[in-house]
Amino acid sequence: MNVTNRISANAETAPARARPRTVFVKAFGCQMNVYDGERMVDVLRAKGFQPSDTPEEADLVILNTCHIREKAAEKVYSELGRLRQLREKRRERGADMAIAVAGCVAQAEGEAMLKRAPAIDFIFGPQAIQRLPDLVERLDAGERHMVETDFPAEDKFAELDGKAKAPPAVPPAAFLAVQEGCDKFCTFCVVPYTRGAEYSRPAADILREAERLVEKGAREITLLGQNVNAWHGEGLDGTTWNLARLLEELARIEALHALRFTTSHPNDMDGALVAAFAGNDKLMPYLHLPVQAGSDRILKAMNRKHTAQDYIRLIEEIRAARPDIAISGDFIVGFPGETEADFEATLALVEEVQYAHAYSFRYSPRPGTPAAALEEQVPEEVKRERLARLQELLAKQQREFNGRFLDKEFDLLLTGPGKHEGQLVGRSPWLQAVHVPGVGHKVGDIVRVRVTDIGKNALGAHVIA
Ligand code: SAH
Ligand code: SF4
Ligand code: F3S
Repeated sequence: MNVTNRISANAETAPARARPRTVFVKAFGCQMNVYDGERMVDVLRAKGFQPSDTPEEADLVILNTCHIREKAAEKVYSELGRLRQLREKRRERGADMAIAVAGCVAQAEGEAMLKRAPAIDFIFGPQAIQRLPDLVERLDAGERHMVETDFPAEDKFAELDGKAKAPPAVPPAAFLAVQEGCDKFCTFCVVPYTRGAEYSRPAADILREAERLVEKGAREITLLGQNVNAWHGEGLDGTTWNLARLLEELARIEALHALRFTTSHPNDMDGALVAAFAGNDKLMPYLHLPVQAGSDRILKAMNRKHTAQDYIRLIEEIRAARPDIAISGDFIVGFPGETEADFEATLALVEEVQYAHAYSFRYSPRPGTPAAALEEQVPEEVKRERLARLQELLAKQQREFNGRFLDKEFDLLLTGPGKHEGQLVGRSPWLQAVHVPGVGHKVGDIVRVRVTDIGKNALGAHVIA
């Protein structure tokens, strides 16, 4: 028997290996959750998996869950029901599918999820992504119902670097996690419990990852962290660097066009970082700086450790450094004990700040958080009514902000296909979605544009050079 024959004989006896296994990751949460999902695909690529665009044909489906509000956390159970049916259909055809749950619900509920949804094959938390190859091996060996939920963040990032196989290409606007976890313990929030204590990655690791991203095509990088501006890590010179210093070093990467960071906490906004908005010309004029509420009584009950005035003064300093900056925020209405007067203080703060964009939510009591145990819970209909009033004001401010951009010119990084056929889309320096006619251009190009239309949620523009 010659060599060729032997190979073909082997191929016939191992038909299952003819097709690489595929994985589908569905992200339910924040940008860090999306980033983690991409890392899961990276570590599985090293094990021979290929990413799949849909769950239908995937050999492994991972639900990367979010625990921040009840609605987000409950979504996973309806999704699990759907996947179970999908798996039944595949089994009828002689194929199979493994179901895993990752992310913040996995971390918060762990083992308990298996009781409610025994169809889950294994569960792993946000700090256990690097364990994924081992979990898949155990699954292949016939084990089920594994739960991996306690590993410190240090291990995660160090091991991911070694275990992951870099993706063949990265998007023009990429994410890079520099910090994870939170020590702030706002009384409404699950993040300190699901993501653990604050951890900052060393600058050298971050710079290496940034260079790799740029080599593979990234032109914009958004640094991620639950409290990204609390980042303080070992610098290249052995001293401790702050985020402004890290951004300065990242700006030296020549082919990198733009830098952003999210999410920041008002109390960690130091003078150097404020000054970076004036001095670092790759840092984009956009800052997401959640305040949550405008009443000092409520801010205190939330354990935010700043007043409404502290926040307003900080915004003034930032605007002095970068007058055109787009300010974005997060708001919670109906925190326990919130009166009509407290809520009006939130509206007054919004009037004072003038937001370019913001997210706002009805307070959702989360198991295990101090605020959930408070007695004066606000009725849902009151929360709903307040949220509608707040959102009306925020939408008006967003329209006013965008309205100032007619005829404005700026450089635009094209990141994907636009809303309509033949269009491409990118994000302005102020993070507005901008649609342009795509002829003659492609994703990844940086083009000079002039704004021609102001839409409700996006701008329209033409390429001028
Ligand atoms: N680390 C960031 C974001 C945390 S989660 C920060 O400190 O701002 C994103 C947003 O979800 C929060 O800013 C808050 O507005 C909202 N959020 C968190 N817990 C919530 C809860 N229990 N109910 C309603 N909204 C909540
Ligand atoms: Fe949650 Fe507060 Fe930490 Fe933000 S700062 S993640 S809202 S505890
Ligand atoms: Fe959700 Fe966890 Fe992010 S709770 S918002 S996925 S940190």
